[in-house]
Amino acid sequence: MTDDILYDNLHIDFLEEMWGEGFLSPGGADEVARVLRGVDVAGKHVMDIGSGSGACAVLLAGEYGAAHVTGIDVEDPVCDAARRRVDDAGLTDKISIVKVEPGPFPFPDQTFDIVFSKDSIIHIPDKAAMAAESFRVLKPNGWFAASDWLISHDGAPSAQMTEYIKAEDLDFAMSSPATYAKAMEAAGFVDVELVDRNPWYREVAAEELAWLVGERRPGLEARYGEEFIAAQINTWTKLVGVLESGEHCPHHIRGRRPV
Ligand SMILES: C[S@@+](CC[C@H](N)C(=O)[O-])C[C@H]1O[C@@H](n2cnc3c(N)ncnc32)[C@H](O)[C@@H]1O
Repeated sequence: MTDDILYDNLHIDFLEEMWGEGFLSPGGADEVARVLRGVDVAGKHVMDIGSGSGACAVLLAGEYGAAHVTGIDVEDPVCDAARRRVDDAGLTDKISIVKVEPGPFPFPDQTFDIVFSKDSIIHIPDKAAMAAESFRVLKPNGWFAASDWLISHDGAPSAQMTEYIKAEDLDFAMSSPATYAKAMEAAGFVDVELVDRNPWYREVAAEELAWLVGERRPGLEARYGEEFIAAQINTWTKLVGVLESGEHCPHHIRGRRPV
Protein backbone atom coordinates (compact mmCIF):
# COMPACT_ATOMS: atom_id res chain seq x y z
CA MET A 1 0.00 0.00 0.00
CA THR A 2 1.16 3.50 -0.74
CA ASP A 3 0.37 5.35 2.49
CA ASP A 4 -0.35 4.64 6.13
CA ILE A 5 -4.07 4.15 5.60
CA LEU A 6 -4.92 0.44 5.47
CA TYR A 7 -8.63 0.78 4.75
CA ASP A 8 -8.65 3.51 2.10
CA ASN A 9 -11.67 4.36 -0.04
CA LEU A 10 -10.71 1.87 -2.77
CA HIS A 11 -10.58 -0.97 -0.24
CA ILE A 12 -13.76 0.19 1.45
CA ASP A 13 -15.63 0.22 -1.89
CA PHE A 14 -14.24 -3.17 -2.92
CA LEU A 15 -14.93 -4.90 0.41
CA GLU A 16 -18.45 -3.44 0.54
CA GLU A 17 -19.10 -4.71 -2.99
CA MET A 18 -18.08 -8.17 -1.81
CA TRP A 19 -19.59 -8.18 1.67
CA GLY A 20 -22.47 -5.70 1.53
CA GLU A 21 -22.89 -1.98 2.11
CA GLY A 22 -21.18 -0.84 5.27
CA PHE A 23 -19.54 -4.22 5.88
CA LEU A 24 -15.77 -4.67 5.82
CA SER A 25 -16.05 -8.26 7.04
CA PRO A 26 -17.94 -11.32 5.85
CA GLY A 27 -21.36 -12.64 6.79
CA GLY A 28 -23.49 -9.48 6.88
CA ALA A 29 -26.45 -9.12 9.21
CA ASP A 30 -26.82 -12.91 9.61
CA GLU A 31 -23.32 -13.29 11.04
CA VAL A 32 -23.85 -10.28 13.33
CA ALA A 33 -26.97 -12.06 14.61
CA ARG A 34 -24.92 -15.19 15.34
CA VAL A 35 -22.28 -13.15 17.21
CA LEU A 36 -25.07 -11.59 19.31
CA ARG A 37 -27.05 -14.81 19.87
CA GLY A 38 -28.68 -14.63 23.31
CA VAL A 39 -27.35 -11.14 24.12
CA ASP A 40 -30.14 -8.64 24.77
CA VAL A 41 -29.11 -5.42 23.04
CA ALA A 42 -32.37 -3.45 23.37
CA GLY A 43 -31.97 -0.33 25.50
CA LYS A 44 -28.26 -1.03 26.10
CA HIS A 45 -25.14 1.11 25.66
CA VAL A 46 -22.80 -0.61 23.23
CA MET A 47 -19.20 -0.03 22.20
CA ASP A 48 -18.24 -1.36 18.75
CA ILE A 49 -14.46 -1.87 18.50
CA GLY A 50 -13.32 -1.24 14.93
CA SER A 51 -16.64 0.03 13.61
CA GLY A 52 -15.31 0.32 10.05
CA SER A 53 -17.79 1.82 7.60
CA GLY A 54 -20.62 1.45 10.06
CA ALA A 55 -23.11 -1.28 9.09
CA CYS A 56 -22.73 -3.11 12.41
CA ALA A 57 -23.32 0.05 14.44
CA VAL A 58 -26.38 0.88 12.33
CA LEU A 59 -27.73 -2.64 12.87
CA LEU A 60 -27.11 -2.47 16.62
CA ALA A 61 -28.98 0.82 16.98
CA GLY A 62 -31.55 0.40 14.21
CA GLU A 63 -32.48 -3.30 14.27
CA TYR A 64 -31.46 -4.33 17.78
CA GLY A 65 -32.67 -1.16 19.53
CA ALA A 66 -29.50 -0.28 21.41
CA ALA A 67 -29.94 2.92 23.46
CA HIS A 68 -26.62 4.16 22.12
CA VAL A 69 -23.72 2.78 20.10
CA THR A 70 -20.21 4.18 20.30
CA GLY A 71 -18.21 2.98 17.32
CA ILE A 72 -14.47 3.42 17.64
CA ASP A 73 -11.95 3.21 14.83
CA VAL A 74 -8.46 4.44 14.06
CA GLU A 75 -8.65 5.67 10.45
CA ASP A 76 -10.40 8.67 8.89
CA PRO A 77 -11.81 7.10 5.70
CA VAL A 78 -13.76 4.42 7.58
CA CYS A 79 -14.91 6.90 10.24
CA ASP A 80 -16.10 9.31 7.51
CA ALA A 81 -17.93 6.48 5.70
CA ALA A 82 -19.54 5.32 8.94
CA ARG A 83 -20.71 8.83 9.82
CA ARG A 84 -22.32 9.16 6.37
CA ARG A 85 -24.05 5.80 6.87
CA VAL A 86 -25.30 6.80 10.32
CA ASP A 87 -26.55 10.10 8.93
CA ASP A 88 -28.33 8.38 6.01
CA ALA A 89 -29.98 5.99 8.47
CA GLY A 90 -31.22 8.93 10.57
CA LEU A 91 -29.43 7.56 13.63
CA THR A 92 -27.08 10.42 14.56
CA ASP A 93 -28.70 10.72 18.00
CA LYS A 94 -28.09 7.01 18.69
CA ILE A 95 -24.63 6.41 17.24
CA SER A 96 -21.34 8.22 17.80
CA ILE A 97 -18.35 7.35 15.64
CA VAL A 98 -15.17 8.23 17.51
CA LYS A 99 -11.72 8.22 15.96
CA VAL A 100 -9.29 6.93 18.57
CA GLU A 101 -5.60 6.20 18.91
CA PRO A 102 -4.72 2.53 19.26
CA GLY A 103 -4.41 1.66 22.95
CA PRO A 104 -6.56 2.19 26.02
CA PHE A 105 -10.18 3.05 25.27
CA PRO A 106 -10.90 6.73 25.99
CA PHE A 107 -13.92 6.06 28.19
CA PRO A 108 -14.46 5.91 31.95
CA ASP A 109 -14.81 2.64 33.86
CA GLN A 110 -18.17 0.87 33.54
CA THR A 111 -19.51 2.95 30.63
CA PHE A 112 -21.03 0.19 28.47
CA ASP A 113 -23.41 -2.77 28.81
CA ILE A 114 -21.98 -4.54 25.77
CA VAL A 115 -18.63 -4.52 24.02
CA PHE A 116 -19.14 -5.76 20.46
CA SER A 117 -16.59 -6.22 17.71
CA LYS A 118 -16.63 -7.76 14.26
CA ASP A 119 -13.31 -8.92 12.79
CA SER A 120 -11.35 -5.87 13.97
CA ILE A 121 -9.41 -7.05 17.02
CA ILE A 122 -7.08 -8.85 14.60
CA HIS A 123 -5.49 -5.40 14.28
CA ILE A 124 -4.84 -5.11 18.04
CA PRO A 125 -1.69 -7.09 18.87
CA ASP A 126 -2.04 -7.12 22.66
CA LYS A 127 -5.16 -9.23 23.30
CA ALA A 128 -4.56 -9.18 27.07
CA ALA A 129 -4.62 -5.37 27.13
CA MET A 130 -7.68 -5.33 24.84
CA ALA A 131 -9.52 -7.80 27.11
CA ALA A 132 -8.56 -5.85 30.26
CA GLU A 133 -9.73 -2.58 28.68
CA SER A 134 -13.00 -4.16 27.52
CA PHE A 135 -13.56 -5.49 31.03
CA ARG A 136 -12.83 -2.07 32.52
CA VAL A 137 -15.33 -0.17 30.36
CA LEU A 138 -18.06 -2.79 30.82
CA LYS A 139 -20.63 -2.50 33.58
CA PRO A 140 -21.03 -5.51 35.90
CA ASN A 141 -22.95 -8.28 34.11
CA GLY A 142 -22.00 -6.72 30.78
CA TRP A 143 -21.15 -8.88 27.78
CA PHE A 144 -18.19 -8.95 25.45
CA ALA A 145 -19.45 -10.47 22.17
CA ALA A 146 -17.10 -10.47 19.22
CA SER A 147 -15.99 -12.17 16.06
CA ASP A 148 -12.31 -12.20 15.18
CA TRP A 149 -9.81 -13.90 12.86
CA LEU A 150 -7.55 -16.27 14.77
CA ILE A 151 -4.64 -18.61 14.05
CA SER A 152 -5.09 -22.16 15.30
CA HIS A 153 -1.85 -22.36 17.33
CA ASP A 154 0.71 -20.39 19.29
CA GLY A 155 4.22 -19.95 17.95
CA ALA A 156 5.38 -19.09 14.48
CA PRO A 157 2.84 -19.28 11.61
CA SER A 158 3.51 -21.90 8.93
CA ALA A 159 5.16 -20.77 5.69
CA GLN A 160 1.72 -20.94 4.03
CA MET A 161 0.18 -18.71 6.72
CA THR A 162 3.12 -16.30 6.59
CA GLU A 163 2.58 -15.91 2.84
CA TYR A 164 -1.14 -15.29 3.37
CA ILE A 165 -0.60 -12.66 6.09
CA LYS A 166 1.97 -10.93 3.86
CA ALA A 167 -0.51 -10.90 0.96
CA GLU A 168 -3.20 -9.28 3.14
CA ASP A 169 -0.79 -6.42 3.99
CA LEU A 170 -3.14 -5.23 6.72
CA ASP A 171 -0.96 -5.44 9.85
CA PHE A 172 -2.69 -8.61 11.01
CA ALA A 173 -1.83 -9.70 14.55
CA MET A 174 -3.60 -13.05 14.85
CA SER A 175 -3.62 -14.91 18.12
CA SER A 176 -4.64 -18.44 19.02
CA PRO A 177 -7.89 -19.51 20.68
CA ALA A 178 -5.85 -20.57 23.75
CA THR A 179 -4.18 -17.15 24.03
CA TYR A 180 -7.51 -15.39 23.53
CA ALA A 181 -9.23 -17.47 26.22
CA LYS A 182 -6.34 -16.86 28.62
CA ALA A 183 -6.52 -13.09 27.96
CA MET A 184 -10.27 -13.03 28.61
CA GLU A 185 -9.99 -15.03 31.83
CA ALA A 186 -7.00 -13.04 33.10
CA ALA A 187 -9.03 -9.84 32.56
CA GLY A 188 -11.74 -11.24 34.85
CA PHE A 189 -14.34 -12.42 32.33
CA VAL A 190 -16.48 -15.45 33.21
CA ASP A 191 -18.57 -17.66 30.93
CA VAL A 192 -15.80 -17.34 28.37
CA GLU A 193 -16.75 -19.15 25.17
CA LEU A 194 -14.96 -19.50 21.84
CA VAL A 195 -16.74 -20.93 18.82
CA ASP A 196 -14.73 -21.97 15.77
CA ARG A 197 -16.19 -20.43 12.58
CA ASN A 198 -13.68 -22.05 10.22
CA PRO A 199 -16.24 -24.58 8.90
CA TRP A 200 -18.50 -21.69 7.90
CA TYR A 201 -15.93 -19.26 6.52
CA ARG A 202 -13.91 -21.81 4.56
CA GLU A 203 -17.02 -22.38 2.39
CA VAL A 204 -17.91 -18.71 2.15
CA ALA A 205 -14.33 -17.70 1.24
CA ALA A 206 -14.26 -20.29 -1.54
CA GLU A 207 -17.45 -18.68 -2.92
CA GLU A 208 -15.84 -15.25 -2.59
CA LEU A 209 -12.84 -16.44 -4.62
CA ALA A 210 -15.17 -17.89 -7.27
CA TRP A 211 -16.96 -14.51 -7.36
CA LEU A 212 -13.62 -12.72 -7.87
CA VAL A 213 -12.36 -14.90 -10.69
CA GLY A 214 -15.73 -15.49 -12.33
CA GLU A 215 -17.78 -13.56 -14.80
CA ARG A 216 -17.76 -10.44 -12.63
CA ARG A 217 -14.00 -10.07 -12.96
CA PRO A 218 -14.06 -7.69 -15.97
CA GLY A 219 -16.47 -5.38 -14.17
CA LEU A 220 -14.40 -5.51 -10.99
CA GLU A 221 -11.25 -4.77 -12.98
CA ALA A 222 -12.96 -1.82 -14.65
CA ARG A 223 -13.99 -0.40 -11.26
CA TYR A 224 -10.88 -1.15 -9.17
CA GLY A 225 -8.09 -1.73 -11.70
CA GLU A 226 -6.58 -4.96 -13.01
CA GLU A 227 -3.61 -4.82 -10.65
CA PHE A 228 -5.82 -4.35 -7.59
CA ILE A 229 -8.09 -7.27 -8.54
CA ALA A 230 -5.10 -9.51 -9.31
CA ALA A 231 -3.76 -8.71 -5.82
CA GLN A 232 -7.13 -9.58 -4.26
CA ILE A 233 -7.28 -12.87 -6.19
CA ASN A 234 -3.79 -13.69 -4.90
CA THR A 235 -4.85 -12.87 -1.34
CA TRP A 236 -8.09 -14.85 -1.55
CA THR A 237 -6.33 -17.86 -3.07
CA LYS A 238 -3.96 -17.89 -0.08
CA LEU A 239 -6.86 -17.23 2.32
CA VAL A 240 -8.76 -20.26 1.01
CA GLY A 241 -5.60 -22.36 1.44
CA VAL A 242 -5.10 -21.47 5.12
CA LEU A 243 -8.82 -21.89 5.81
CA GLU A 244 -8.69 -25.35 4.23
CA SER A 245 -5.66 -26.28 6.34
CA GLY A 246 -7.52 -25.02 9.42
CA GLU A 247 -4.68 -22.71 10.48
CA HIS A 248 -6.88 -19.67 9.84
CA CYS A 249 -9.83 -20.07 12.17
CA PRO A 250 -12.21 -17.17 12.68
CA HIS A 251 -13.96 -17.46 16.03
CA HIS A 252 -16.79 -15.97 17.97
CA ILE A 253 -15.54 -14.93 21.39
CA ARG A 254 -17.64 -13.99 24.33
CA GLY A 255 -17.40 -13.45 28.02
CA ARG A 256 -19.33 -11.75 30.84
CA ARG A 257 -18.09 -9.31 33.40
CA PRO A 258 -19.38 -10.81 36.66
CA VAL A 259 -21.65 -8.81 38.96
C1 LIG B 1 -11.97 -5.81 8.88
S1 LIG B 1 -12.47 -4.21 9.32
C2 LIG B 1 -14.04 -4.58 10.14
C3 LIG B 1 -14.93 -3.39 10.28
C4 LIG B 1 -16.31 -3.66 10.85
N1 LIG B 1 -16.25 -4.18 12.19
C5 LIG B 1 -17.08 -4.60 9.99
O1 LIG B 1 -17.30 -5.74 10.38
O2 LIG B 1 -17.50 -4.18 8.89
C6 LIG B 1 -11.39 -3.82 10.66
C7 LIG B 1 -11.52 -2.41 11.22
O3 LIG B 1 -10.72 -2.31 12.41
C8 LIG B 1 -10.16 -1.00 12.44
N2 LIG B 1 -9.02 -0.98 13.38
C9 LIG B 1 -7.72 -1.25 13.16
N3 LIG B 1 -7.00 -1.10 14.29
C10 LIG B 1 -7.86 -0.72 15.26
C11 LIG B 1 -7.73 -0.40 16.65
N4 LIG B 1 -6.54 -0.45 17.28
N5 LIG B 1 -8.83 -0.04 17.34
C12 LIG B 1 -10.04 0.01 16.71
N6 LIG B 1 -10.22 -0.29 15.40
C13 LIG B 1 -9.15 -0.64 14.69
C14 LIG B 1 -9.80 -0.76 10.99
O4 LIG B 1 -9.56 0.61 10.73
C15 LIG B 1 -11.03 -1.32 10.29
O5 LIG B 1 -12.02 -0.34 10.14
